[in-house]
Amino acid sequence: MKKSTSLFLLAALFGTNALFAQQKKAAAGTDQKMNTYINNLMSKMTLDEKIGQLNLPAVGFDVTGPILSEGVDEKIQKGLVGGVFNTFTPQAVRKLQELAVTKSRLKIPLLFGYDVVHGHKTIFPIPLGLSASWDMSLIEKSARIAAREASADGLNWTFSPMVDIARDPRWGRISEGSGEDPYLGSLIAAAMVKGYQTNSLSNKDAILACVKHFALYGAAEAGRDYNTTDMSLIKMYNEYLPPYKAAVDAGAESVMVSFNDINGTPATANKWLLTDLLRKSWGFKGFVVSDYTGINELVAHGLGDLKTVSARSLAAGTDMDMVGEGFLLTLKTSLQEKKITQAVIDQACRRILEAKYKLGLFADPYKYIDEERAKTEILSQQNRFDAKRIAEASMVLLKNNNQVLPLKNNAKIALIGPLANNKRDMIGNWSAAGDWKQAIGVMEGLKNVAPDLDITYTKGANLVDDAAILKQINANGADIVADQKSPEDMISDAVSAAKKADVAVVVLGESALMGGEATSRTSLDLLPNQKDLLKALTATGKPIVLVLMNSRPLTLTWEDANVTAILETWFSGTEAGNAIADVLVGNYNPAGKLTTTFPRSVGQIPLYYNHKSTGRPYDGVSNEKFKSRYIDSTNDPLYPFGYGLSYTTFAISPIKLNKKTISAASPIQATVEVKNTGNFDGEEVVQLYIQDIYGSVTRPVKELKGFQKISLKKGESKMVTFTVTAEMLKFYNADLKFVNEPGDFNLFIGGNSRDVAQATFNLSK
Ligand code: BGC
Repeated sequence: MKKSTSLFLLAALFGTNALFAQQKKAAAGTDQKMNTYINNLMSKMTLDEKIGQLNLPAVGFDVTGPILSEGVDEKIQKGLVGGVFNTFTPQAVRKLQELAVTKSRLKIPLLFGYDVVHGHKTIFPIPLGLSASWDMSLIEKSARIAAREASADGLNWTFSPMVDIARDPRWGRISEGSGEDPYLGSLIAAAMVKGYQTNSLSNKDAILACVKHFALYGAAEAGRDYNTTDMSLIKMYNEYLPPYKAAVDAGAESVMVSFNDINGTPATANKWLLTDLLRKSWGFKGFVVSDYTGINELVAHGLGDLKTVSARSLAAGTDMDMVGEGFLLTLKTSLQEKKITQAVIDQACRRILEAKYKLGLFADPYKYIDEERAKTEILSQQNRFDAKRIAEASMVLLKNNNQVLPLKNNAKIALIGPLANNKRDMIGNWSAAGDWKQAIGVMEGLKNVAPDLDITYTKGANLVDDAAILKQINANGADIVADQKSPEDMISDAVSAAKKADVAVVVLGESALMGGEATSRTSLDLLPNQKDLLKALTATGKPIVLVLMNSRPLTLTWEDANVTAILETWFSGTEAGNAIADVLVGNYNPAGKLTTTFPRSVGQIPLYYNHKSTGRPYDGVSNEKFKSRYIDSTNDPLYPFGYGLSYTTFAISPIKLNKKTISAASPIQATVEVKNTGNFDGEEVVQLYIQDIYGSVTRPVKELKGFQKISLKKGESKMVTFTVTAEMLKFYNADLKFVNEPGDFNLFIGGNSRDVAQATFNLSK
């Protein structure tokens, strides 16, 4: 009998308690075996070999920091390396694994890590785009496919998911996470961990997840990468920590520490964070890795010399040192000088060996090297098919006047813009092993999807003309070469093409390398040369469909006022062009919703929907002076969290509550009727928000507490019911106790966070 069947029978016969008891016993048995194995191994290890397990050099293809590891082969043979990262392909991984298991004294296999962030070789939309799908099964699927490809290519550890809440689009890494909301961010964090790790790391296509960057990296002051963060504990607990915790609860086996400081102590050396919170309070059992040279950087943070900061990081709870070799170079001396204990070195070493054991590497160090699987699974037809579906689901329609989209199939189209016939940028930033040459651009996609469309292509502008940005991104691989033609001539060609067409589809935005690590911006406008092009095109009076590619919210106030339609496509991966084309011609009706607020101007930042009320809230209309407002702008965003249009329209009825009072034992149900009132079949993300009207501390004006993505045929209606429990009303109070407080609550349901129906209920004592 299969094990799962017997467990099922056991549950049926004796109830779930018996099942849990047996599972616990089985887990304890595995733990027992693992402990015996590792005790035995550690009893043979020298101090140097134990410290060696804590060393993670970079070797291979990518560099994400200022230092590159040297002499790695030799160190592996001496047992001074626990894992490597940036090496993949079965051949390259085999070479290093062989060194470890045939040439080192104790033959301990290596971990092979890599930033498989939004796909390994089949690339999915950048994570911010993925999150806009609000579809947990598609998000999990993207992680599953990434893990299948990565594991066939020799990898057993991904530095993902990145779950940092980010509310500052100046920060380039906002692209790598799931936006501004802790509830949605937590669901996505768990889905990604499940996708990577599956239900058992012993599966040959399961890889270790690494939740990053713990913690608060997304709150860097002024949106400048690596900058200081400073935050109250109550904000941390309620708004920033939940996604990390959700990933840990979902079983993530490793955690990467962030570069920033937290309450005066950089995360890498922060004992409160790494030991008290992560291990003691959350029960995390895996291992913690520093970020790239994160330990060495504590010297520049001003915490001490390399020896001091290395000892302090280890004692705080950082188990593995990425690239910096502070552990390798100094821990032995620190032990002799009694600055650290043997026990903390042993503990860190044990945690890393445990991960290797759970992955099954001691049983088969070559488990993750599978040439056959690599050949058949990587970039397979099926993976590309799924990538297209996922890319479509990530796209957000921001504006669509006069139903200009979908494009009419007899329309004459001027396809314009530096991103319209471009492959290089489609896979976005942090696309790791992705090969942009495999990507489909928009022009190619339109030809694939609608071969009969009448299309004329003109570039219209360089992707980037700004000298400072060019210098920075070209030095890091953007390879942007200015066109031979002058900007004026390029614009004039584009204007003539637009004049001859029925509609201009203009594909603009950022270069992919303007997003991701170390790409903070102070302006979020379209680059001036692209804006000049767009202004000239709108002056023709032709309908303008703006297709955007960007890693972050842009400030689109002018565009919103002046173009006919706007489709946000992020950087949507290997299948970008096919997916965009499907949306443009109406083969797929867009249903993505923003997971990050689009501000009107940089001056409004940080701007997010779940903010607090001030004591002098502004109603948006009056001219009263002493209100919390600007004298030169409204407070509200251009596009709010949760926003996104469809080719059809939806009407949401007033809310019906089955009763007015909720108690711990008795939830309430809130129901709306959602009707597709337009001319297309479509999907809507029906969103539930709650506001705790009076609390012992200030509470957000609304918080997402649930959503359902439903599909409705033209003319169809569906009832959508949310169950609201007393548990959902809990928050961390001033004493950091997780409580709910009796009283009145507002409940909102809508298709975005701004346009909502409202009802009120009460939580009884
Ligand atoms: C980034 C991490 C990444 C690491 C390894 C660092 O610079 O902050 O997100 O996982 O490099 O590439």
